[in-house]
Order: sequence, then structure tokens, then C-alpha cells
Amino acid sequence: MSTSAKDLTDRASPAELPSTHQVSLKVNGVEKRMEVAPWTTLLDLLRESLDLTGTKKGCDHGQCGACTVLVNGKRINSCLTLAVMKDGAEVMTVEGLAAGETLHPLQEAFIEHDAFQCGYCTPGQLCSALGLLNEGKAKTLDDIRESMSGNLCRCGAYPNILTAIEKVRREREGGAEQ
Ligand code: FES
Ligand code: FES
Repeated sequence: MSTSAKDLTDRASPAELPSTHQVSLKVNGVEKRMEVAPWTTLLDLLRESLDLTGTKKGCDHGQCGACTVLVNGKRINSCLTLAVMKDGAEVMTVEGLAAGETLHPLQEAFIEHDAFQCGYCTPGQLCSALGLLNEGKAKTLDDIRESMSGNLCRCGAYPNILTAIEKVRREREGGAEQ
């Protein structure tokens, strides 16, 4: 039995698709329930629906890391992630790093080591760095450089970013030299 083009068109008719899905997320510790279009990326949900504009849209194609956030403690490119895929997840954005007025040690280290210039890549760099520390695999500056290679900085702040991350990594490991 052959399938006509009209059959396929009818089956995929947008009128038959649900226009929105309900998604529940815990974002920076706060429960959020939203109706989102199925094609909404996590990045757009954060920026457009929740007004969490700290997470930046750079390339929107998974190539620059500006949109990096943590989902259940793991770093991901939010521009490549559909919000409906993360229903029930815990999301941390750069807005969730500080505890009130107290900056996260990574934020302190970035300031101390002059690790940003225009700052556009910085939220993604910070979230990625926290994901890196959570992973616990990077033991040297070269490991950090490799593990942070998905986060691009058009200002070339890389040396200071690496130094800042290494400082926090060493502090977490009790100052052990590697
Ligand atoms: S905006 Fe997501 S990787 Fe560039
Ligand atoms: S500090 Fe400007 S893009 Fe990284």
C-alpha cells in the first residue's frame, strides 16, 4: 500500500499537534511550571519566559558555550536542549551561583584574576567551570584547558580564566599541587 504525499501531510498537520506542553523545572532552587511550545529551547525558556538573561545566546548552534547551564549538576548547552526534554530537572544558571550577596568562589576567583573583559562569555564560563569541578576529572591546567574548550571567549581571556578555575580547583582539593 502506498502512502500519498497528502496522507503524510495530513498526519503531520500542525493542527493535530499540541501547541504547548507543561514543563516543571526547579530553576535556581525555585519550582517553575510553564506551558511551552514543544520546540522551545531551554535557553529561550530561561531568557524569554523566566527573564534569566544572565545565560547568553552566542551562536545558538552549540558551538560557543555562551549558553552553558547546569542541569542536574551537569553542564549542557541550553541552546541545543529542548525545554520539554528536561521536564522535572534541576537547572542552575549563573544567577544561582551566588548565595545572596556572597559570591561563589569561582566568581571571586574570576574577579581576582581579571578573567573577563566584555563579560559576554563569562556566565557560560562560570557554569562550565562549576560543571568541570563537579565532574572531578580535571587535575592540571591542561586538563582544565581541554575540558573548557567548548567555551569560547572572543576577548581572549583564556589564561586568566584557566588561572581562576585552577585556583578554585586547588582549594577544593585542599591545596594539593598537581
Ligand atoms: S549559544 Fe549555545 S553554544 Fe553558542
Ligand atoms: S570576556 Fe568577552 S567574550 Fe569572553
